[in-house]
Amino acid sequence: MVLPITSKVNSKGHLEIGGCDAVELVKEHGTPLFVMDEETIRGQCRAYMGAFAGKTDDFEVIYASKAFISVAMCRLVQEEGLSLDVMSGGELYTAIKAGFPVAKAFFHGNNKTPAELNLALEHGVGRIVVDGFHELELLDKIAAEKGMSQDILLRITPGIKPQTHNFIQTGQLDSKFGFGLQDGLAMSAVKKALTLGNINLKGIHAHIGSQIFELGSFAKAIEIIMGFVRDIKEETGFVVGELNTGGGLGIKYKAVDEPSTIEEYASVIVDGVKEQAAHFGIPVPRIMVEPGRSIVANAGITLYTVGTIKDIPGIRTYVSVDGGMSDNLRPMLYGAVYEALLANRVDDEAHALVTVAGKHCESGDILVRDTMLPYPKAGDILCTPATGAYGYMMANNYNRQPRPPVVMVKAGSARVIVRGETLDDLVRLDTGLQ
Ligand code: LLP
Repeated sequence: MVLPITSKVNSKGHLEIGGCDAVELVKEHGTPLFVMDEETIRGQCRAYMGAFAGKTDDFEVIYASKAFISVAMCRLVQEEGLSLDVMSGGELYTAIKAGFPVAKAFFHGNNKTPAELNLALEHGVGRIVVDGFHELELLDKIAAEKGMSQDILLRITPGIKPQTHNFIQTGQLDSKFGFGLQDGLAMSAVKKALTLGNINLKGIHAHIGSQIFELGSFAKAIEIIMGFVRDIKEETGFVVGELNTGGGLGIKYKAVDEPSTIEEYASVIVDGVKEQAAHFGIPVPRIMVEPGRSIVANAGITLYTVGTIKDIPGIRTYVSVDGGMSDNLRPMLYGAVYEALLANRVDDEAHALVTVAGKHCESGDILVRDTMLPYPKAGDILCTPATGAYGYMMANNYNRQPRPPVVMVKAGSARVIVRGETLDDLVRLDTGLQ
């Protein structure tokens, strides 16, 4: 199983995380429950900072908050010295409310609204990562109205298709994101940005996709981007000072997965940029990376309570839990595969082949297909590991299911960092209440 680094089985045979017994956590907070292990998150932040510091002096690790953001998470990221990637007014607002130094925030998105850009400029966001011509002009106008000049990066699509799910490939020419290299739009965008009076072009950004195992795609992307950086210098004289290669390092969802390590990733990125800079005879830019999933995914688990068990002889045993597609959309959306264990009797022999189903009104609401567990009973606590990234963030209220709380555990104590929704929360936006 791929559990947070502090996980162990305690003397009662219960799963323990961050010194907290999972069964006790459930008694106090109910299920479904997201549990995040602070030590694992900090460890991943430090691994990134250390790996890049070991290779270069001029770098920035930017946590991609879409993987998991809350006020507490922003504070933790700040304490660990990382910058922050936000991709909506909502994520930016969370950072502002957390007191995160917004000058260290990078604002992404393929269709930022005027209201979002205004909010960003009013709070002094560090970089806007501009995604299209419409945005270039809009941003220049908004910055002019405010009498300021905004630092930007331009997002380009280098024409790379990494091996990952189609939905999370972003670097190919046929993408809604960024300016294409092959079709010449990226160069036009650079030239345009250099003419606008209230925009200050600092560099280039490219994110080729997510959950990537083979590092060759990053190396290839860097080769292409650095060639473009050279072309920019030759055609315009502008020297790219910042190169943000996005996020995308894959993680282990299952014990058999073999992603690359953060150290290997840092080597490919930094060595790649340095080699290509030497090859093209251009200066080495400041190197920026934007990991999301690999910071938080393995820090998180979800705990559920087992309810109905439906055994269809010779066909399948459905074990239903009290959450599902409302707290983990990834199996339905990407066919993502998770593992499961019973947190209240971890050591019992797993001799039953079962399918873990969610409680929603959709046949496709299956969390884990065909997995071995100790034969489950109603009341067992089922745990799915590796749910720390893109789980809570894609949670929803389908069937008016309240979103679960998130607790952060550390050294035997658990604090609620996002409270669970109540039934009243679910109707709070409805009009006509008595
Ligand atoms: N930077 C940009 C511009 C991005 O679009 C993303 C992810 C990242 C950084 C962070 O990538 P990471 O290190 O987390 O792979 N909901 C999907 C993932 C969508 C990723 C979107 N962009 C999932 O659950 O797999």
